[in-house]
Amino acid sequence: KIVFLLKIEKKALRVFICFYLYAVTVFLRPACRQRFRHSYLRRIVIANADFKIHKSSSPGSECYIQILSHLRAKIKCGAAHIKIGRIFCKSIDKSVLPMYNSRNKGKDVFPQSGASLSFFIRRKTFMKKAEGFTYVKTSKRYVCDYKGGAWGKGRLTRNANVTLNESACVLQYAQTCFEGLKAYRTEDGHIVCFRPDLNEKRLADSCRRMVIPPLPEGMFTEAVKEVVLANRKWIPDADGGSLYLRPFIFGTEAVIGVKPATEFQFRLFATPVGSYFHGGVSPLRLRVCDFDRAAPHGTGHIKAGLNYAMSLYAITDAHEKGYDENLYLDAATRTYIEETGGANVIFITDDGTLVTPESDTILPSVTRRSLIYVAEHYLGMKTEERKIPLSEIGNFRECGLCGTAAVISPVGTIDDHGKEIRYDTGDFESTVIAKLYHTLTDIQHGKIEAPEGWIMKIK
Ligand code: PLP
Ligand code: COI
Repeated sequence: KIVFLLKIEKKALRVFICFYLYAVTVFLRPACRQRFRHSYLRRIVIANADFKIHKSSSPGSECYIQILSHLRAKIKCGAAHIKIGRIFCKSIDKSVLPMYNSRNKGKDVFPQSGASLSFFIRRKTFMKKAEGFTYVKTSKRYVCDYKGGAWGKGRLTRNANVTLNESACVLQYAQTCFEGLKAYRTEDGHIVCFRPDLNEKRLADSCRRMVIPPLPEGMFTEAVKEVVLANRKWIPDADGGSLYLRPFIFGTEAVIGVKPATEFQFRLFATPVGSYFHGGVSPLRLRVCDFDRAAPHGTGHIKAGLNYAMSLYAITDAHEKGYDENLYLDAATRTYIEETGGANVIFITDDGTLVTPESDTILPSVTRRSLIYVAEHYLGMKTEERKIPLSEIGNFRECGLCGTAAVISPVGTIDDHGKEIRYDTGDFESTVIAKLYHTLTDIQHGKIEAPEGWIMKIK
């Protein structure tokens, strides 16, 4: 009797599974289609079955489809699905191409050409635009452990969580350092990283100062490439933001006496980001800060987590009082400008010279160093890197913050204990800072040629 009942139940289970699968296919497919609708790239015309690119014959219109080997897409032609690698559509003038007209949906829009066929091209969805600067869990991250005096083999993992002993050195004594860099999608469909070699070098400098074993040669670049490729769908469109990469190393060994760990973990994760400050490029309000960020001979020149822990109280206080950021002074004399909690500061004089603070206790910003080069070699500007007394900040015409996250953000005012210094931000596009901003971001997005070695293509 029992065997008989079991048999019936098995049958019922099978029927249930079949019905479930049928229901999923029938009912959920339209919903899936709906989800993917926005991912239909374009309706375009391709001349021959060998997928030669067709340039539209309509006068004035341009229609290039660039086929890149590292991109993947499906071309749907009648019943056939042909995989030919992803397709990137560069520029199509919507107004002159009749195929954009909804009335032409599904029709052959160039019947006169005979051989032409109209295709529906779909590309894998990727983020169009990222908003703000917040953590979004992406698909995969890189992880590698240091044990027994050597770095192991790095790998990608889906696990975004880290399990640590309660007495791990990073938790007790903040033994950690990190980096920040970005991957961009360029207009012609490449994925690139901006000067990762400088981040790699700075991470190694930070490691040495924090008694952390630097990464073996090549691991940083390998981690960047693997993480970017594994998360490529998270990279926003050329104009929609970027993929922020956060490499970091921390002491995992349990210690209780104050000493460096002998076991570490290196991780690199990615998260899509838009602008760091709330208002995008609207002018920032800074205040001269009474707290210090970095002591002489301390760790201000490296990217140690402890520098940021130091700044948390000050930034919370600044935000509560309506400021966007703190402008720190040199801790020894409190008379020279240093930087803000998360970016270097730049000034423009009346005669258009770029002036940046020189100090051993600020972070050697990749963005600032690049801007100095861009100002001199692309814009023909004069530049000065020197000590800037607080008393001089009222003499500058423009002020801005620069960094990977901040990019270049114009500063509208600096409040020095009730004395407000105002900078020229009226029409952003007419400022020197806007010129610097556009030149640098155009280089980063592949719109203008970069100096040699600045752009790493990721394939
Ligand atoms: N200064 C501080 C304190 C920072 O945290 C950052 C960000 O990395 C910068 C400056 C800008 O450095 P970079 O341009 O290399 O991102
Ligand atoms: C960066 O710009 O990469 C930083 O690390 C700054 C941080 C405040 C987000």
